[in-house]
Amino acid sequence: MTETPHGRVKIVAVANQKGGVGKTTTAINLGTALAAVGTNCLVVDIDPQGNASTGLGVERSTRKVTTYDVLMNEGDFLEAMIETKVPGLDVVPSVGELAGAEAELLHQEGRNYRLRGAFDRLRAQIESGAAKPYKYVFIDCPPSLNVLTVNAMTAADTVLVPLQCEFFALEGLSQLMETFQLVRSSTNPKLKIEGVLLTMYDKRNNLSEQVADDVRSHFGEQVYDTVIPRNVTVSEAPSFGMPVLLYDIKSAGSQAYIKLAGEILKRAGVQAEAA
Ligand SMILES: Nc1ncnc2c1ncn2[C@@H]1O[C@H](COP(=O)(O)OP(=O)(O)O)[C@@H](O)[C@H]1O
Ligand SMILES: [Mg+2]
Repeated sequence: MTETPHGRVKIVAVANQKGGVGKTTTAINLGTALAAVGTNCLVVDIDPQGNASTGLGVERSTRKVTTYDVLMNEGDFLEAMIETKVPGLDVVPSVGELAGAEAELLHQEGRNYRLRGAFDRLRAQIESGAAKPYKYVFIDCPPSLNVLTVNAMTAADTVLVPLQCEFFALEGLSQLMETFQLVRSSTNPKLKIEGVLLTMYDKRNNLSEQVADDVRSHFGEQVYDTVIPRNVTVSEAPSFGMPVLLYDIKSAGSQAYIKLAGEILKRAGVQAEAA
């Protein structure tokens, strides 16, 4: 078995309360690119819209056990996970009922710790060999800073923030960082930023470059060198229920996600050496 730089599974919440910035696309395609180099990944869909599930080819009718059951009924990830067309990439699907979870959880004690409890069980299952040796979990968050996103940040080791290269990109990010700090000061003091990812970069548009420069001067080394270009192939792939890497590996979008996977593994290696 090949070891990734860090031994235990790393749980990454892919979060930004803005919709349409590339959270789901990144969870799917980064997971695919890592799986392609032998790094087992699990995508956990906690957006009631279920785009990650659909984008990975999981039909609604086949979603029997879902993140709703994991969150609300102490269901087990092992029973909920479904293998995708990508070897080494599995998904825990979501359903629309998850939208009601916020209200249902509101008065329940420990509501922010539901996902963490489930991930604790998954970690034990990985260690005992009952679950596959996942190296990364990507939690695809909803476009909101609600109890679902707080559950994800409470359970996660790190947060990966996709940022669309548009004028209002930095606006709203302060809200996300406030939630990040709030989680750090309450439910998860060890939470770190995995990285900030510039998405939908359009090199013909001066604004893209300007936004990228602003974000880099603001977040420094936390911003990935890899930038995801705006690429129509990326947006076509989900309607075929497959990652863009399967749909058209030569496309600029696929190549960017492959590069990002390499950068993340390299950074993880550097961190492991420093530890
Ligand atoms: N790099 C890209 N180039 C072109 N379209 C993209 C790119 N990334 C995402 N999209 C498209 O933009 C829309 C929003 O992306 P998505 O990943 O669903 O965002 P979020 O999960 O943050 O709401 C989707 O239709 C998706 O296919
Ligand atoms: Mg999404």
